[in-house]
Amino acid sequence: VNLTLYKNAEEASIYTANTIAALISRKQKEGKHAVLGLATGNTPKRVYQELIRMHNDEGLSFQNVISFNLDEYFPINAGDSQSYTYFMEQNLFAHVDIKSSNIHIPHVDGSSTDISKYCNEYEEKIASYGGLDLQLLGIGRNGHIGFNEPRSSFDSITRLVNLHPVTREDAKSDFGTLENVPQQAISMGINTILQAKKILLLALGQRKSEIINKAIYGAVSIDTPASILQSLPQVEYILDSDAAALIQ
Ligand code: F6R
Repeated sequence: VNLTLYKNAEEASIYTANTIAALISRKQKEGKHAVLGLATGNTPKRVYQELIRMHNDEGLSFQNVISFNLDEYFPINAGDSQSYTYFMEQNLFAHVDIKSSNIHIPHVDGSSTDISKYCNEYEEKIASYGGLDLQLLGIGRNGHIGFNEPRSSFDSITRLVNLHPVTREDAKSDFGTLENVPQQAISMGINTILQAKKILLLALGQRKSEIINKAIYGAVSIDTPASILQSLPQVEYILDSDAAALIQ
């Protein structure tokens, strides 16, 4: 298991940002795109802040970045403050020089869209860029990665999913009430994630300690979706000491 342990969330976040920035810069020198799979939620916020700082202070350019977000609620208006489209704009995209045409978020407008066709096209778009160079992941308290909830197939690809009660409960503070939390989302699948050339799983804070221990050292099972990552050489776990508290 490739596990890097940092004393606090700050150091873990800076290390993660540096890893992403190094990939972007290396690809830029090679005249290539950097194809990034991005996550939302609390965990990557500080990472994105640091990437913005590097853009402002150190000339890190996102001109060559192609981004694909893991997931988006369904249904939701892109402009709603709880949407992941809005989150990414606020927390990263509005502050760097990424081309808007290079941004991909699995957001479906309205009812007229053929969702499964949309999802297949999302997969094809990732493939058309040669796949994800790097996927940044958080982990849900139920072991989800993206919105691949417990019992998701390890072969799953981008699709419409039902959100787990724990996931909806954790989203309650963003939406005000549980009833306001959407029942569904569109998420990359586990197989989509596993195709990435490099996977960084970032977990911060004591509330992730139990699931982190289970995901890394417990049984590989669809009951803990993140457990599929434990034997893969391209996966790096980046933990702060609180998230690592239960690891022996
Ligand atoms: C977000 C995502 C989720 C989160 C996970 C952890 O795009 O796909 O899997 O990474 O729910 O969320 P936080 O970071 O808010 O604890």
